[in-house]
Amino acid sequence: MGRIVSVNVASIAEAAEILKSGGLVGMPTETVYGLAANALDGAAVAKIFAAKGRPSFNPLIIHVADMASAAQFVDFNEAARAVASAFWPGPLTLILPKTEQCEISDLAGAGLPTLAVRVPGHKVALELLRGCGVPLAAPSANKSGALSPTSPAHVAESLGDAVDLILAAGSCAVGVESTVLDLSGDEPLVLRPGAITAEEISAVLGAPVEYAQGDVDAPKSPGLLLKHYAPDTPLRLRAVDLEEGEALLGFGSLKFMGVKGAGAAAGLPEHMRRNLSEGGDLHEAAANLFAMMKELDQSGALRIAVMDVPHVGLGIAINDRLRRAAETD
Ligand code: TXA
Ligand code: MG
Repeated sequence: MGRIVSVNVASIAEAAEILKSGGLVGMPTETVYGLAANALDGAAVAKIFAAKGRPSFNPLIIHVADMASAAQFVDFNEAARAVASAFWPGPLTLILPKTEQCEISDLAGAGLPTLAVRVPGHKVALELLRGCGVPLAAPSANKSGALSPTSPAHVAESLGDAVDLILAAGSCAVGVESTVLDLSGDEPLVLRPGAITAEEISAVLGAPVEYAQGDVDAPKSPGLLLKHYAPDTPLRLRAVDLEEGEALLGFGSLKFMGVKGAGAAAGLPEHMRRNLSEGGDLHEAAANLFAMMKELDQSGALRIAVMDVPHVGLGIAINDRLRRAAETD
């Protein structure tokens, strides 16, 4: 079971080290306990999805220590500056366009052009963020579909050994996840209701703020969101050989992959082939997925042939994303 430690200077320093070296930490926030990983490290973010058993790669909230840190990753407009000044640190997440130089892992942002950011209103979370010096991706620290954890014991029960360390800081003050406010479109829209209401936000903005129909955690909505991410190049799934003009997105050994009438896949030019994980490791594959799809999308290939990824564990999520990416409309 994940080790539960009480909060002091030494345990926060230990947690910061774990995060910097790619591990997972149960982090107290004012809303719910988060399952935190270094958001710049795709392999660390992949561990979050594995630990939660998420059916698909939902985009995660990126936690930062202050507005200046957030500005490295998202572009603030006037409305965003106003609400951030009013409510941060606090239970408000802002959806904003990513900056051009944004280095957040594509897996954490689900390959979307926008990113969810927040400055948590909890002393321990802020000390941890300052201590590790990296942005932290952190969904609620529970198995997918289970109740959100508002105590360290919930985290340990739900996630067991999948979390390296749990910082115990009692029960969460808010107890429901942050309000998610989308400021990337023409009108401000609350995608997920939380402790900060549309009325309060509206008072700061001096403009009406609507709640979206249904919330983003509803089963339909993440799917709609994720449908936005698809390469321009068509994908062909479960490929067992390559046709002429196709690029290869491999998984595991390429030894038995041939190009019809033209030899072995291993002989393809470098820009036409990527391997999600030579050793067949699903964590590595998940971490590579978005970046490699993007690279092959830019290869000039007619189509991307994708080798079979085993439909177990994290493979189920990888296949979900591949299936969405292959969808034509
Ligand atoms: O209170 C909270 O926000 C907690 C604590 C740990 O901070 N975290 C949390 O994270 O609830 P998570 O990953 O479970 O929720 C992320 C929510 C989801 O509803 C997701 O669909 C939405 O934010 N989201 C993330 N990025 C988005 C984007 N680019 N556009 C629209 N919605 C986004
Ligand atoms: Mg959640």
